[in-house]
Amino acid sequence: MSTNTSAQDFSHYSVLLNETISALDVKPDGIYVDLTLGGGGHSEKIAEKLITGRLVCVDADTTAIEASKIRLLPYQDKITFVHSFNNEIDDVLDSLGIGLVDGAVADLGVSSYQLDNAERGFSYMHDAPLDMRMDSESALTAYDVVNGYKEEELKNILYKYGEENFAPKIAAAICKKRAEAPIKTTLELSDIIKSAMPEKAKTGGHHPAKRSFQAIRIAVNGELDRLSVMLNKVIDRLKPDGVFAVISFHSLEDRIVKTAFADAARGCTCPPSFPVCVCGNKEKVKILTKKPVLPTEKELYENPRSRSAKLRVCKKI
Ligand SMILES: C[S@@+](CC[C@H](N)C(=O)[O-])C[C@H]1O[C@@H](n2cnc3c(N)ncnc32)[C@H](O)[C@@H]1O
Repeated sequence: MSTNTSAQDFSHYSVLLNETISALDVKPDGIYVDLTLGGGGHSEKIAEKLITGRLVCVDADTTAIEASKIRLLPYQDKITFVHSFNNEIDDVLDSLGIGLVDGAVADLGVSSYQLDNAERGFSYMHDAPLDMRMDSESALTAYDVVNGYKEEELKNILYKYGEENFAPKIAAAICKKRAEAPIKTTLELSDIIKSAMPEKAKTGGHHPAKRSFQAIRIAVNGELDRLSVMLNKVIDRLKPDGVFAVISFHSLEDRIVKTAFADAARGCTCPPSFPVCVCGNKEKVKILTKKPVLPTEKELYENPRSRSAKLRVCKKI
């Protein structure tokens, strides 16, 4: 991993930026959390609006934190940077003596910088050792998943996290190849994936390895498990009227966000015939986005990577 990244190197077009910031309705004296700091684009817009308020910026990737510290230098007295996975948000806030917050933003997945930086091994476009860790201190790498998981496990990961129709063929091809020698690089893996797919499936649309790479990345970083935990914890840490904005990039993430918000917005689930509530469920939030907010044509033109982005927002009751 590069250790000398400059703020200029860390390019990331912040997705649905104006829509997210306007939904957060930042109060100058509020306490906010950016759960996925990345290049600091959303954080910068929040920090600009703070006077006596405070912003906690969390990222599992130290490279993102170092680059954003430079970008956010003008606001350094208002910001605390924390290297952590965001499902640990309770520990993060407790350690800073923060109880409840006025708002939180999560812009899920990986940054353009992570994808474009060959050494990180996230991309099928650049050759690099199979890594894909957001946190380079984490134990599990893509190499371990690709070379160590049983065929059945690999198949399930490709199906579940990549929604890849050719998961059985791809898992079988990976296992056959690695029996000869370990699979070491992203391009080796990409070639194996392509070789397992029928010609028809490789023409038009996305790169044939896109779904499989997404699936392996999600497995390496435990992304979906962390997401569910993080969403519920953050909802519980919002002050009344506190706003939570979440941007997702694929249907699996969006489903988890939608369900977590819907569950938190649901009150009593007792049958109407019950004279009194016995379930004890109380509405925690109001959903502000009945339908997710999508990028405008202008944003899609300027940043094609935003095409699958969806913003959902809820407000604490
Ligand atoms: C899409 S980028 C965020 C971009 C940022 N909003 C901006 O405008 O520059 C996502 C970032 O969140 C981090 N990340 C993703 N999942 C995380 C998790 N569960 N815990 C901590 N950081 C995470 C990634 O390392 C990456 O830097």
